[in-house]
Amino acid sequence: MDGLKRLRERWPYWRRRVWHYVGGVSVRTKILGIVLAVILIPGLFIIYQLRTTLITTYREQLRQEGIAVARDVAARSTDLLLINDLYGLNRLLRDTQQYNANVRYIFILDAKGQIVAHTFGKGFPLELLHVNTLPPNTPYRVMPLRSEEGIIWDVAVPIFGGKAGTARVGLSEAPMWRSINAITRQIVLTMTVISLLGIGAASLLTWLLTRPLLELVALAERVGQGDYSLSVRRWADDEVGALQDAFNRMVAQLRRAEQERAERERLRQEYLERVIAAQEDERKRIARELHDEMGQALASILLGLRNVETAPTPADQEQRLQDLRAVAMGALDRVRHLAFDLRPKLLDDLGLVPALKRYASMYQERFNIETTVQALGLDGIRLSPELEITVYRVVQEALTNAAKYANCRHISIVLQVRNRVLSVIVEDDGQGFDIGRVLKAGPGSTHLGLYGMRERAELMGGTLEIESQEGSGTTVYLRVPLQVHIRPDEG
Ligand SMILES: Nc1ncnc2c1ncn2[C@@H]1O[C@H](COP(=O)(O)OP(=O)(O)OP(=O)(O)O)[C@@H](O)[C@H]1O
Ligand SMILES: [Mg+2]
Repeated sequence: MDGLKRLRERWPYWRRRVWHYVGGVSVRTKILGIVLAVILIPGLFIIYQLRTTLITTYREQLRQEGIAVARDVAARSTDLLLINDLYGLNRLLRDTQQYNANVRYIFILDAKGQIVAHTFGKGFPLELLHVNTLPPNTPYRVMPLRSEEGIIWDVAVPIFGGKAGTARVGLSEAPMWRSINAITRQIVLTMTVISLLGIGAASLLTWLLTRPLLELVALAERVGQGDYSLSVRRWADDEVGALQDAFNRMVAQLRRAEQERAERERLRQEYLERVIAAQEDERKRIARELHDEMGQALASILLGLRNVETAPTPADQEQRLQDLRAVAMGALDRVRHLAFDLRPKLLDDLGLVPALKRYASMYQERFNIETTVQALGLDGIRLSPELEITVYRVVQEALTNAAKYANCRHISIVLQVRNRVLSVIVEDDGQGFDIGRVLKAGPGSTHLGLYGMRERAELMGGTLEIESQEGSGTTVYLRVPLQVHIRPDEG
Protein backbone atom coordinates (compact mmCIF):
# COMPACT_ATOMS: atom_id res chain seq x y z
CA MET A 1 0.00 0.00 0.00
CA ASP A 2 2.84 2.34 0.96
CA GLY A 3 4.62 1.69 -2.31
CA LEU A 4 1.44 2.40 -4.25
CA LYS A 5 1.00 5.69 -2.38
CA ARG A 6 4.58 6.72 -3.03
CA LEU A 7 4.17 5.83 -6.67
CA ARG A 8 1.05 8.00 -6.89
CA GLU A 9 2.89 10.88 -5.24
CA ARG A 10 5.84 10.58 -7.60
CA TRP A 11 3.65 10.12 -10.70
CA PRO A 12 3.32 13.84 -11.67
CA TYR A 13 7.09 14.24 -11.31
CA TRP A 14 7.80 11.32 -13.64
CA ARG A 15 5.13 12.43 -16.08
CA ARG A 16 6.77 15.88 -16.26
CA ARG A 17 10.22 14.36 -16.71
CA VAL A 18 9.09 11.97 -19.47
CA TRP A 19 7.20 14.75 -21.24
CA HIS A 20 10.24 16.99 -20.91
CA TYR A 21 12.16 14.57 -23.14
CA VAL A 22 9.33 13.28 -25.34
CA GLY A 23 7.85 16.72 -25.86
CA GLY A 24 11.26 18.14 -26.71
CA VAL A 25 11.72 16.13 -29.92
CA SER A 26 10.04 16.57 -33.29
CA VAL A 27 6.87 14.73 -34.34
CA ARG A 28 8.98 12.74 -36.80
CA THR A 29 11.22 11.44 -34.00
CA LYS A 30 8.20 10.66 -31.82
CA ILE A 31 6.48 8.60 -34.52
CA LEU A 32 9.72 6.84 -35.51
CA GLY A 33 10.37 6.08 -31.83
CA ILE A 34 6.89 4.60 -31.36
CA VAL A 35 7.11 2.49 -34.53
CA LEU A 36 10.56 1.15 -33.63
CA ALA A 37 9.47 0.42 -30.06
CA VAL A 38 6.37 -1.44 -31.32
CA ILE A 39 8.55 -3.60 -33.61
CA LEU A 40 11.69 -4.04 -31.51
CA ILE A 41 10.29 -4.67 -28.01
CA PRO A 42 8.04 -7.64 -28.99
CA GLY A 43 10.71 -8.82 -31.45
CA LEU A 44 13.45 -8.97 -28.83
CA PHE A 45 11.04 -10.63 -26.40
CA ILE A 46 10.13 -13.27 -28.99
CA ILE A 47 13.82 -13.92 -29.74
CA TYR A 48 14.59 -14.30 -26.04
CA GLN A 49 11.65 -16.66 -25.46
CA LEU A 50 12.37 -18.74 -28.54
CA ARG A 51 16.02 -19.15 -27.65
CA THR A 52 15.21 -20.16 -24.08
CA THR A 53 12.67 -22.75 -25.22
CA LEU A 54 14.96 -24.09 -27.97
CA ILE A 55 17.92 -24.40 -25.60
CA THR A 56 15.88 -26.31 -23.02
CA THR A 57 14.37 -28.63 -25.63
CA TYR A 58 17.63 -29.23 -27.50
CA ARG A 59 19.55 -29.93 -24.28
CA GLU A 60 16.96 -32.44 -23.16
CA GLN A 61 17.12 -34.12 -26.58
CA LEU A 62 20.92 -34.13 -26.44
CA ARG A 63 20.86 -35.80 -23.03
CA GLN A 64 18.40 -38.46 -24.20
CA GLU A 65 20.41 -39.04 -27.34
CA GLY A 66 23.63 -39.32 -25.32
CA ILE A 67 22.08 -41.90 -23.00
CA ALA A 68 20.69 -43.88 -25.96
CA VAL A 69 24.00 -43.86 -27.86
CA ALA A 70 25.99 -44.78 -24.74
CA ARG A 71 23.60 -47.67 -23.93
CA ASP A 72 23.81 -48.90 -27.49
CA VAL A 73 27.59 -48.79 -27.45
CA ALA A 74 27.65 -50.53 -24.05
CA ALA A 75 25.36 -53.29 -25.27
CA ARG A 76 27.18 -53.84 -28.47
CA SER A 77 30.67 -53.79 -26.92
CA THR A 78 29.98 -56.37 -24.20
CA ASP A 79 30.82 -59.38 -26.38
CA LEU A 80 33.72 -57.69 -28.08
CA LEU A 81 35.18 -56.85 -24.67
CA LEU A 82 34.76 -60.36 -23.44
CA ILE A 83 36.63 -61.79 -26.40
CA ASN A 84 39.03 -58.83 -26.31
CA ASP A 85 38.34 -57.88 -29.94
CA LEU A 86 40.04 -54.49 -30.00
CA TYR A 87 39.65 -54.09 -33.73
CA GLY A 88 35.90 -54.72 -33.52
CA LEU A 89 35.62 -52.28 -30.64
CA ASN A 90 37.43 -49.51 -32.52
CA ARG A 91 35.22 -50.07 -35.56
CA LEU A 92 32.11 -49.96 -33.41
CA LEU A 93 33.21 -46.64 -31.94
CA ARG A 94 34.20 -45.15 -35.33
CA ASP A 95 30.92 -46.23 -36.97
CA THR A 96 28.81 -44.89 -34.11
CA GLN A 97 30.56 -41.53 -34.23
CA GLN A 98 30.28 -41.39 -37.99
CA TYR A 99 26.52 -41.82 -38.02
CA ASN A 100 25.92 -39.40 -35.23
CA ALA A 101 26.73 -35.77 -35.86
CA ASN A 102 26.48 -34.68 -32.23
CA VAL A 103 28.90 -37.29 -30.88
CA ARG A 104 32.24 -35.64 -30.15
CA TYR A 105 34.00 -38.66 -28.69
CA ILE A 106 33.46 -42.22 -27.41
CA PHE A 107 35.73 -44.33 -25.30
CA ILE A 108 35.56 -47.58 -23.41
CA LEU A 109 37.17 -48.39 -20.11
CA ASP A 110 37.63 -51.90 -18.81
CA ALA A 111 36.58 -53.00 -15.32
CA LYS A 112 39.84 -51.67 -13.89
CA GLY A 113 39.33 -48.28 -15.45
CA GLN A 114 42.00 -48.73 -18.17
CA ILE A 115 41.26 -47.28 -21.61
CA VAL A 116 40.46 -50.04 -24.05
CA ALA A 117 39.33 -48.11 -27.13
CA HIS A 118 38.67 -44.41 -27.99
CA THR A 119 38.04 -42.07 -30.86
CA PHE A 120 40.62 -39.42 -30.05
CA GLY A 121 43.26 -40.72 -32.44
CA LYS A 122 46.57 -39.70 -30.87
CA GLY A 123 46.63 -38.04 -27.47
CA PHE A 124 43.77 -39.10 -25.25
CA PRO A 125 42.90 -36.27 -22.77
CA LEU A 126 43.69 -38.08 -19.52
CA GLU A 127 41.73 -35.63 -17.37
CA LEU A 128 38.55 -37.26 -18.79
CA LEU A 129 39.31 -40.34 -16.72
CA HIS A 130 38.85 -38.42 -13.51
CA VAL A 131 35.49 -36.91 -14.24
CA ASN A 132 32.03 -38.44 -14.46
CA THR A 133 33.14 -41.67 -12.83
CA LEU A 134 30.25 -44.06 -12.44
CA PRO A 135 29.28 -45.09 -8.89
CA PRO A 136 28.32 -48.76 -8.52
CA ASN A 137 24.80 -49.86 -9.44
CA THR A 138 23.98 -46.68 -11.37
CA PRO A 139 22.22 -47.12 -14.73
CA TYR A 140 23.90 -44.01 -16.20
CA ARG A 141 25.36 -40.63 -15.29
CA VAL A 142 25.27 -37.47 -17.32
CA MET A 143 27.60 -34.53 -16.64
CA PRO A 144 28.19 -31.29 -18.53
CA LEU A 145 31.87 -30.57 -19.16
CA ARG A 146 33.34 -27.24 -20.12
CA SER A 147 35.68 -27.34 -23.09
CA GLU A 148 37.18 -24.98 -25.63
CA GLU A 149 34.37 -25.89 -28.05
CA GLY A 150 31.66 -25.15 -25.50
CA ILE A 151 29.73 -27.50 -23.28
CA ILE A 152 30.06 -31.25 -23.86
CA TRP A 153 27.56 -33.63 -22.29
CA ASP A 154 29.45 -36.61 -21.03
CA VAL A 155 27.37 -39.78 -20.50
CA ALA A 156 28.71 -42.80 -18.67
CA VAL A 157 26.91 -46.19 -18.93
CA PRO A 158 28.09 -49.44 -17.28
CA ILE A 159 28.90 -52.38 -19.57
CA PHE A 160 27.46 -55.68 -18.43
CA GLY A 161 26.37 -54.15 -15.13
CA GLY A 162 29.81 -52.61 -14.69
CA LYS A 163 31.54 -55.97 -14.58
CA ALA A 164 33.00 -55.54 -18.12
CA GLY A 165 33.76 -51.81 -17.86
CA THR A 166 32.23 -48.44 -18.77
CA ALA A 167 31.19 -46.82 -22.03
CA ARG A 168 31.61 -43.02 -22.19
CA VAL A 169 30.09 -40.83 -24.87
CA GLY A 170 30.57 -37.07 -25.22
CA LEU A 171 27.99 -35.04 -27.14
CA SER A 172 28.91 -31.53 -28.21
CA GLU A 173 26.48 -28.60 -27.93
CA ALA A 174 28.17 -26.89 -30.91
CA PRO A 175 25.68 -28.16 -33.58
CA MET A 176 22.78 -27.16 -31.30
CA TRP A 177 24.17 -23.61 -30.99
CA ARG A 178 24.77 -23.47 -34.70
CA SER A 179 21.11 -24.15 -35.48
CA ILE A 180 19.82 -21.87 -32.66
CA ASN A 181 22.05 -19.05 -33.92
CA ALA A 182 20.91 -19.67 -37.49
CA ILE A 183 17.25 -19.38 -36.38
CA THR A 184 18.07 -16.22 -34.38
CA ARG A 185 19.86 -14.67 -37.35
CA GLN A 186 16.84 -15.41 -39.50
CA ILE A 187 14.46 -13.72 -37.06
CA VAL A 188 16.80 -10.73 -36.62
CA LEU A 189 16.97 -10.38 -40.38
CA THR A 190 13.17 -10.49 -40.66
CA MET A 191 12.86 -7.94 -37.87
CA THR A 192 15.35 -5.66 -39.57
CA VAL A 193 13.35 -5.82 -42.77
CA ILE A 194 10.11 -5.11 -40.85
CA SER A 195 11.83 -2.25 -38.99
CA LEU A 196 13.04 -0.72 -42.25
CA LEU A 197 9.53 -1.01 -43.69
CA GLY A 198 8.18 0.54 -40.48
CA ILE A 199 10.67 3.40 -40.64
CA GLY A 200 9.76 3.96 -44.28
CA ALA A 201 6.04 3.97 -43.49
CA ALA A 202 6.55 6.24 -40.46
CA SER A 203 8.70 8.65 -42.47
CA LEU A 204 6.06 8.83 -45.15
CA LEU A 205 3.36 9.35 -42.53
CA THR A 206 5.27 12.12 -40.75
CA TRP A 207 6.08 13.77 -44.04
CA LEU A 208 2.39 13.68 -44.95
CA LEU A 209 1.46 15.07 -41.55
CA THR A 210 4.15 17.64 -40.95
CA ARG A 211 4.41 19.17 -44.39
CA PRO A 212 1.02 20.94 -44.24
CA LEU A 213 1.60 21.73 -40.57
CA LEU A 214 4.97 23.38 -41.28
CA GLU A 215 3.32 25.30 -44.10
CA LEU A 216 0.69 26.49 -41.60
CA VAL A 217 3.39 27.53 -39.12
CA ALA A 218 5.18 29.61 -41.77
CA LEU A 219 1.90 31.22 -42.77
CA ALA A 220 0.84 31.91 -39.20
CA GLU A 221 4.13 33.75 -38.72
CA ARG A 222 3.48 35.93 -41.74
CA VAL A 223 -0.08 36.60 -40.58
CA GLY A 224 1.41 37.52 -37.21
CA GLN A 225 3.51 40.13 -39.01
CA GLY A 226 0.34 41.65 -40.46
CA ASP A 227 0.19 40.02 -43.90
CA TYR A 228 -3.47 39.00 -44.28
CA SER A 229 -3.37 38.42 -48.03
CA LEU A 230 -2.44 34.74 -47.68
CA SER A 231 -4.31 31.49 -47.58
CA VAL A 232 -3.24 27.84 -47.54
CA ARG A 233 -3.99 25.36 -50.29
CA ARG A 234 -6.43 22.72 -49.03
CA TRP A 235 -4.36 19.59 -48.59
CA ALA A 236 -6.90 16.78 -48.36
CA ASP A 237 -10.38 16.00 -47.14
CA ASP A 238 -9.20 15.05 -43.66
CA GLU A 239 -8.47 16.57 -40.24
CA VAL A 240 -5.50 18.50 -41.62
CA GLY A 241 -7.74 19.84 -44.38
CA ALA A 242 -10.27 20.92 -41.74
CA LEU A 243 -7.48 22.69 -39.83
CA GLN A 244 -6.40 24.48 -43.01
CA ASP A 245 -10.01 25.53 -43.68
CA ALA A 246 -10.33 26.89 -40.15
CA PHE A 247 -7.03 28.72 -40.58
CA ASN A 248 -8.13 30.25 -43.87
CA ARG A 249 -11.42 31.36 -42.32
CA MET A 250 -9.54 32.92 -39.43
CA VAL A 251 -7.20 34.81 -41.76
CA ALA A 252 -10.16 36.03 -43.84
CA GLN A 253 -11.86 37.25 -40.68
CA LEU A 254 -8.69 39.00 -39.56
CA ARG A 255 -8.42 40.58 -42.99
CA ARG A 256 -12.00 41.88 -42.78
CA ALA A 257 -11.47 43.13 -39.24
CA GLU A 258 -8.30 44.90 -40.33
CA GLN A 259 -10.09 46.51 -43.28
CA GLU A 260 -12.90 47.66 -40.99
CA ARG A 261 -10.39 49.05 -38.53
CA ALA A 262 -8.54 50.92 -41.26
CA GLU A 263 -11.83 52.29 -42.61
CA ARG A 264 -12.90 53.46 -39.15
CA GLU A 265 -9.51 55.02 -38.63
CA ARG A 266 -9.85 56.87 -41.93
CA LEU A 267 -13.34 58.11 -41.05
CA ARG A 268 -12.18 59.20 -37.61
CA GLN A 269 -9.32 61.11 -39.17
CA GLU A 270 -11.64 62.77 -41.66
CA TYR A 271 -14.13 63.58 -38.95
CA LEU A 272 -11.44 65.17 -36.83
CA GLU A 273 -10.27 67.28 -39.74
CA ARG A 274 -13.86 68.29 -40.43
CA VAL A 275 -14.46 69.18 -36.79
CA ILE A 276 -11.34 71.33 -36.71
CA ALA A 277 -12.26 73.00 -40.01
CA ALA A 278 -15.83 73.59 -38.78
CA GLN A 279 -14.52 75.17 -35.59
CA GLU A 280 -12.34 77.50 -37.64
CA ASP A 281 -15.27 78.41 -39.91
CA GLU A 282 -17.42 79.08 -36.88
CA ARG A 283 -14.77 81.40 -35.43
CA LYS A 284 -14.46 83.21 -38.76
CA ARG A 285 -18.23 83.64 -38.89
CA ILE A 286 -18.39 84.98 -35.33
CA ALA A 287 -15.43 87.31 -35.96
CA ARG A 288 -17.11 88.56 -39.10
CA GLU A 289 -20.41 89.02 -37.37
CA LEU A 290 -18.81 90.81 -34.42
CA HIS A 291 -16.84 93.04 -36.77
CA ASP A 292 -19.52 93.70 -39.35
CA GLU A 293 -22.77 93.72 -37.41
CA MET A 294 -21.73 94.57 -33.84
CA GLY A 295 -19.05 97.03 -34.97
CA GLN A 296 -21.46 98.73 -37.27
CA ALA A 297 -24.24 98.82 -34.70
CA LEU A 298 -21.95 100.31 -32.02
CA ALA A 299 -20.53 102.85 -34.56
CA SER A 300 -24.03 103.95 -35.54
CA ILE A 301 -25.00 104.20 -31.83
CA LEU A 302 -21.96 106.46 -31.24
CA LEU A 303 -22.89 108.59 -34.26
CA GLY A 304 -26.53 108.68 -33.13
CA LEU A 305 -25.53 109.83 -29.64
CA ARG A 306 -23.69 112.78 -31.20
CA ASN A 307 -26.82 113.50 -33.27
CA VAL A 308 -28.96 113.45 -30.13
CA GLU A 309 -26.75 116.11 -28.59
CA THR A 310 -27.17 118.30 -31.66
CA ALA A 311 -30.91 117.75 -32.09
CA PRO A 312 -32.62 121.09 -32.80
CA THR A 313 -35.90 120.33 -30.97
CA PRO A 314 -36.90 118.07 -28.03
CA ALA A 315 -39.22 116.18 -30.42
CA ASP A 316 -36.30 115.53 -32.76
CA GLN A 317 -34.21 114.41 -29.80
CA GLU A 318 -36.93 112.02 -28.72
CA GLN A 319 -37.18 110.58 -32.26
CA ARG A 320 -33.38 110.07 -32.52
CA LEU A 321 -33.29 108.38 -29.07
CA GLN A 322 -36.00 105.97 -30.21
CA ASP A 323 -34.03 105.10 -33.36
CA LEU A 324 -30.95 104.50 -31.22
CA ARG A 325 -32.91 102.20 -28.88
CA ALA A 326 -34.06 100.15 -31.87
CA VAL A 327 -30.47 99.78 -33.13
CA ALA A 328 -29.30 98.75 -29.62
CA MET A 329 -32.19 96.21 -29.32
CA GLY A 330 -31.28 94.72 -32.72
CA ALA A 331 -27.65 94.40 -31.64
CA LEU A 332 -28.63 92.78 -28.33
CA ASP A 333 -30.77 90.27 -30.22
CA ARG A 334 -27.86 89.36 -32.51
CA VAL A 335 -25.56 88.90 -29.50
CA ARG A 336 -28.07 86.56 -27.88
CA HIS A 337 -28.38 84.51 -31.06
CA LEU A 338 -24.65 84.30 -31.41
CA ALA A 339 -24.26 83.14 -27.81
CA PHE A 340 -27.03 80.57 -28.27
CA ASP A 341 -25.44 79.18 -31.41
CA LEU A 342 -22.12 78.88 -29.65
CA ARG A 343 -23.55 77.06 -26.71
CA PRO A 344 -27.07 77.33 -25.42
CA LYS A 345 -26.81 78.87 -21.95
CA LEU A 346 -30.05 77.11 -21.10
CA LEU A 347 -28.27 73.77 -21.31
CA ASP A 348 -25.98 74.69 -18.43
CA ASP A 349 -28.62 76.56 -16.45
CA LEU A 350 -31.75 74.46 -16.75
CA GLY A 351 -30.62 71.22 -18.34
CA LEU A 352 -31.19 69.21 -21.48
CA VAL A 353 -34.97 69.15 -21.80
CA PRO A 354 -35.59 72.91 -21.58
CA ALA A 355 -32.68 73.57 -23.94
CA LEU A 356 -34.05 71.09 -26.48
CA LYS A 357 -37.55 72.57 -26.15
CA ARG A 358 -36.15 75.99 -26.85
CA TYR A 359 -34.18 74.72 -29.81
CA ALA A 360 -37.22 72.87 -31.17
CA SER A 361 -39.43 75.93 -30.99
CA MET A 362 -36.83 78.04 -32.81
CA TYR A 363 -36.43 75.29 -35.39
CA GLN A 364 -40.20 75.07 -35.89
CA GLU A 365 -40.38 78.80 -36.43
CA ARG A 366 -37.48 78.83 -38.83
CA PHE A 367 -38.35 75.84 -41.02
CA ASN A 368 -42.08 75.67 -40.48
CA ILE A 369 -41.93 72.00 -39.40
CA GLU A 370 -44.05 70.96 -36.45
CA THR A 371 -41.58 69.80 -33.79
CA THR A 372 -42.54 68.20 -30.44
CA VAL A 373 -40.31 67.30 -27.47
CA GLN A 374 -41.40 64.68 -24.94
CA ALA A 375 -39.38 63.70 -21.84
CA LEU A 376 -40.17 60.63 -19.70
CA GLY A 377 -38.45 59.61 -16.49
CA LEU A 378 -36.09 62.57 -16.53
CA ASP A 379 -37.70 64.51 -13.70
CA GLY A 380 -35.37 65.16 -10.81
CA ILE A 381 -32.20 63.95 -12.53
CA ARG A 382 -29.53 65.79 -14.47
CA LEU A 383 -27.31 64.02 -16.92
CA SER A 384 -23.57 64.66 -16.93
CA PRO A 385 -22.53 67.77 -18.93
CA GLU A 386 -20.78 65.60 -21.55
CA LEU A 387 -23.88 63.48 -22.09
CA GLU A 388 -26.13 66.54 -22.20
CA ILE A 389 -24.08 68.17 -24.94
CA THR A 390 -23.82 64.83 -26.76
CA VAL A 391 -27.60 64.41 -26.85
CA TYR A 392 -28.05 68.06 -27.77
CA ARG A 393 -25.63 67.84 -30.71
CA VAL A 394 -27.07 64.51 -31.93
CA VAL A 395 -30.60 65.94 -31.93
CA GLN A 396 -29.29 69.09 -33.59
CA GLU A 397 -27.68 67.07 -36.40
CA ALA A 398 -30.80 64.92 -36.82
CA LEU A 399 -32.97 68.00 -37.08
CA THR A 400 -30.55 69.73 -39.47
CA ASN A 401 -30.58 66.66 -41.72
CA ALA A 402 -34.38 66.48 -41.58
CA ALA A 403 -34.61 70.13 -42.60
CA LYS A 404 -32.06 69.65 -45.40
CA TYR A 405 -33.22 66.35 -46.89
CA ALA A 406 -36.38 64.87 -45.40
CA ASN A 407 -38.95 67.26 -46.77
CA CYS A 408 -41.13 66.42 -43.77
CA ARG A 409 -43.99 68.08 -41.93
CA HIS A 410 -43.62 66.70 -38.46
CA ILE A 411 -40.71 65.72 -36.22
CA SER A 412 -41.01 64.08 -32.82
CA ILE A 413 -38.22 64.02 -30.23
CA VAL A 414 -38.69 61.58 -27.35
CA LEU A 415 -36.26 61.28 -24.42
CA GLN A 416 -36.73 58.48 -21.92
CA VAL A 417 -34.81 57.10 -18.95
CA ARG A 418 -35.76 53.54 -18.05
CA ASN A 419 -33.75 50.85 -16.23
CA ARG A 420 -30.83 53.28 -16.08
CA VAL A 421 -30.69 53.57 -19.85
CA LEU A 422 -31.29 56.83 -21.68
CA SER A 423 -32.94 56.51 -25.07
CA VAL A 424 -33.45 59.38 -27.45
CA ILE A 425 -35.63 58.91 -30.52
CA VAL A 426 -35.83 61.51 -33.29
CA GLU A 427 -38.41 60.61 -35.90
CA ASP A 428 -39.43 62.51 -39.02
CA ASP A 429 -42.19 61.71 -41.49
CA GLY A 430 -40.17 62.70 -44.53
CA GLN A 431 -39.01 60.88 -47.63
CA GLY A 432 -36.33 58.72 -45.96
CA PHE A 433 -33.17 57.47 -47.61
CA ASP A 434 -31.16 54.34 -48.41
CA ILE A 435 -28.84 53.99 -45.41
CA GLY A 436 -26.74 51.23 -46.97
CA ARG A 437 -25.93 53.39 -49.97
CA VAL A 438 -25.03 56.42 -47.87
CA LEU A 439 -22.84 54.42 -45.47
CA LYS A 440 -21.13 52.70 -48.40
CA ALA A 441 -20.29 56.05 -49.98
CA GLY A 442 -16.71 55.17 -48.98
CA PRO A 443 -13.54 57.24 -49.02
CA GLY A 444 -13.89 60.80 -50.10
CA SER A 445 -17.50 61.00 -48.93
CA THR A 446 -18.29 64.38 -47.49
CA HIS A 447 -21.19 63.13 -45.38
CA LEU A 448 -19.86 63.00 -41.88
CA GLY A 449 -22.96 64.01 -39.92
CA LEU A 450 -24.20 60.44 -39.37
CA TYR A 451 -20.68 59.26 -38.62
CA GLY A 452 -20.24 62.09 -36.10
CA MET A 453 -23.49 61.14 -34.33
CA ARG A 454 -22.34 57.56 -33.98
CA GLU A 455 -18.89 58.62 -32.85
CA ARG A 456 -20.35 60.86 -30.13
CA ALA A 457 -22.67 58.04 -28.98
CA GLU A 458 -19.80 55.57 -28.74
CA LEU A 459 -17.66 58.03 -26.82
CA MET A 460 -20.41 57.97 -24.18
CA GLY A 461 -20.41 54.16 -24.17
CA GLY A 462 -23.70 54.08 -26.06
CA THR A 463 -24.99 53.12 -29.49
CA LEU A 464 -26.65 54.95 -32.33
CA GLU A 465 -28.89 53.34 -34.89
CA ILE A 466 -30.70 54.80 -37.85
CA GLU A 467 -33.78 53.32 -39.44
CA SER A 468 -34.96 54.66 -42.72
CA GLN A 469 -36.59 53.57 -45.90
CA GLU A 470 -37.18 55.59 -48.98
CA GLY A 471 -40.66 57.02 -48.70
CA SER A 472 -41.34 56.24 -45.05
CA GLY A 473 -39.38 58.64 -42.87
CA THR A 474 -36.25 58.38 -40.79
CA THR A 475 -35.76 57.45 -37.14
CA VAL A 476 -32.58 57.99 -35.15
CA TYR A 477 -32.16 55.92 -31.96
CA LEU A 478 -29.56 56.88 -29.41
CA ARG A 479 -29.09 54.62 -26.37
CA VAL A 480 -26.66 55.33 -23.53
CA PRO A 481 -26.37 53.33 -20.29
CA LEU A 482 -26.38 55.73 -17.35
CA GLN A 483 -23.87 54.14 -14.96
CA VAL A 484 -21.72 57.26 -14.80
CA HIS A 485 -23.56 59.93 -16.73
CA ILE A 486 -25.99 60.93 -14.06
CA ARG A 487 -25.98 63.49 -11.26
CA PRO A 488 -28.60 64.88 -8.87
CA ASP A 489 -30.61 67.83 -10.20
CA GLU A 490 -29.49 70.87 -8.27
CA GLY A 491 -31.89 73.23 -10.06
N1 LIG B 1 -33.70 62.63 -42.11
C1 LIG B 1 -33.23 62.36 -43.32
N2 LIG B 1 -34.06 62.23 -44.38
C2 LIG B 1 -33.60 61.93 -45.61
N3 LIG B 1 -32.30 61.75 -45.91
C3 LIG B 1 -31.40 61.87 -44.92
C4 LIG B 1 -31.79 62.16 -43.59
N4 LIG B 1 -30.69 62.19 -42.82
C5 LIG B 1 -29.66 61.93 -43.65
N5 LIG B 1 -30.06 61.72 -44.89
C6 LIG B 1 -29.23 61.37 -46.05
O1 LIG B 1 -28.00 60.86 -45.55
C7 LIG B 1 -26.92 61.56 -46.09
C8 LIG B 1 -25.81 61.65 -45.08
O2 LIG B 1 -26.13 62.50 -44.02
P1 LIG B 1 -24.98 63.14 -43.17
O3 LIG B 1 -25.58 63.91 -42.08
O4 LIG B 1 -24.04 62.06 -42.81
O5 LIG B 1 -24.23 64.05 -44.21
P2 LIG B 1 -24.64 65.52 -44.74
O6 LIG B 1 -25.77 66.01 -43.92
O7 LIG B 1 -24.86 65.37 -46.18
O8 LIG B 1 -23.33 66.31 -44.49
P3 LIG B 1 -22.80 66.85 -43.07
O9 LIG B 1 -23.81 66.42 -42.04
O10 LIG B 1 -21.52 66.18 -42.93
O11 LIG B 1 -22.73 68.29 -43.20
C9 LIG B 1 -27.48 62.86 -46.49
O12 LIG B 1 -26.75 63.40 -47.57
C10 LIG B 1 -28.88 62.51 -46.91
O13 LIG B 1 -28.91 62.06 -48.24
MG1 LIG C 1 -25.82 66.11 -41.85
